Amino acid sequence: MSRIHLRLAREEDRRALWRIHTRAVVLRCCDAYSPREVSTWVGQLKPEGYLLPEGHRTVLVAERGEQPVGFGQLDVVSGELEALYVTPEESGRGVGTLLLGSLERTAWLAGVAELRLDASLNAEGFYQHRGYTPLCAARRILTAEVRLACVRMHKPRPRAALPQETRAMTPRAPETSLS
Ligand SMILES: CC(C)(COP(=O)(O)OP(=O)(O)OC[C@H]1O[C@@H](n2cnc3c(N)ncnc32)[C@H](O)[C@@H]1OP(=O)(O)O)[C@@H](O)C(=O)NCCC(=O)NCCS
Repeated sequence: MSRIHLRLAREEDRRALWRIHTRAVVLRCCDAYSPREVSTWVGQLKPEGYLLPEGHRTVLVAERGEQPVGFGQLDVVSGELEALYVTPEESGRGVGTLLLGSLERTAWLAGVAELRLDASLNAEGFYQHRGYTPLCAARRILTAEVRLACVRMHKPRPRAALPQETRAMTPRAPETSLS
């Protein structure tokens, strides 16, 4: 089996990203959402709706060989992780972790102090295992009747992710001592 590698998304990826997104929602989110919610969700996805990397937005594609198998999207100005989807055939093989780790490194290097995201209910555990904590319950509004329950989560930049010279300038918590 060929290895997974990451690259920036290109114009010609749009249809593949749409397919990955649709299949991930239909097959991986169906335990957490009703059939009506899932069908409304995928009905709103369009191949032309996928954004490309530009300015403050990073869109990464994970490929096995030449085949896109996942993608993730980050906005470093808002600090928002906007999307993370892996094709169901590849789930549980580390593709999501690889994409998330790479987007996090991009964010920390760009100076983002805290990443935030709206986790689908089925993905909350995935993010929790990677250092994200819940902030509050939220809703992703699709239509007046369909509002997807999700969890607003965040992860502060780990101290170790700061460039060395910045770390030296960051005030430290006072040392505690016993006398
Ligand atoms: C959530 C999602 C992106 C995770 O992607 P993934 O590629 O399946 O994630 P990983 O394989 O990296 O990790 C999943 C689990 O597999 C395990 N795993 C990682 N590498 C593994 C490997 N090589 N072999 C076996 N298991 C592995 C991990 O321990 C992880 O378990 P944990 O979350 O309990 O720690 C993917 O399931 C998905 O697209 N879901 C549907 C869409 C969705 O909800 N997206 C999030 C929107 S907010």
